[in-house]
Amino acid sequence: MTDQALVDLAFSMLERSYVPYSRFPVGAALLCPDGAAFTGCNVENAAYGSCICAERTALVKAVSEGRRQFAALAVAGRGGDYCWPCGACRQMLYEFAPDLTVLVARGDGAYVKTTLRELLPHGFGPASLK
Ligand code: THU
Repeated sequence: MTDQALVDLAFSMLERSYVPYSRFPVGAALLCPDGAAFTGCNVENAAYGSCICAERTALVKAVSEGRRQFAALAVAGRGGDYCWPCGACRQMLYEFAPDLTVLVARGDGAYVKTTLRELLPHGFGPASLK
C-alpha cells in the first residue's frame, strides 16, 4: 500500500469518530508487513478519562486479531496543524513497533513522514525491563 493510500484510509475513518465532547475527529490506519491494514477512530465518553484515541483503537483492534508487527501508521485530523499522536499513543505503539514509520496528516490533506523513534526518543519498551 502506498503512503497516500494509508493516509486516505486514515481520513476515511473521520466519519466514524464519536466526538460529542471535543468535536475533534481523528482517524488512523495501521499497516502490517503483509499489507493488511487496521483502522481506528477516536471514541469519546461522558467520563472524559475513558476516551480512546484513533491510533490506540487501531492498535488494539490489530493486536486483538493476532497482529503484533506493524510497518506504518497514518493519523489524520481536520485541523490546520498536523495531527500528531499523543504521548500515550506513542508509548503503546512503541511496545510493538519501535521502528514504525508514521504519516501525520492535517485537514488540507498534507502530511509529513516521520518515525516513532523520532517522536519517542529513548522510549521505554520490553527490553527496558531486562
Ligand atoms: N486524539 C486522538 O484520537 N489521537 C491523538 O493522538 C490525539 C488526540 C483525540 C482524543 C480526543 O477524542 C480528541 O482527539 C481531542 O483530544
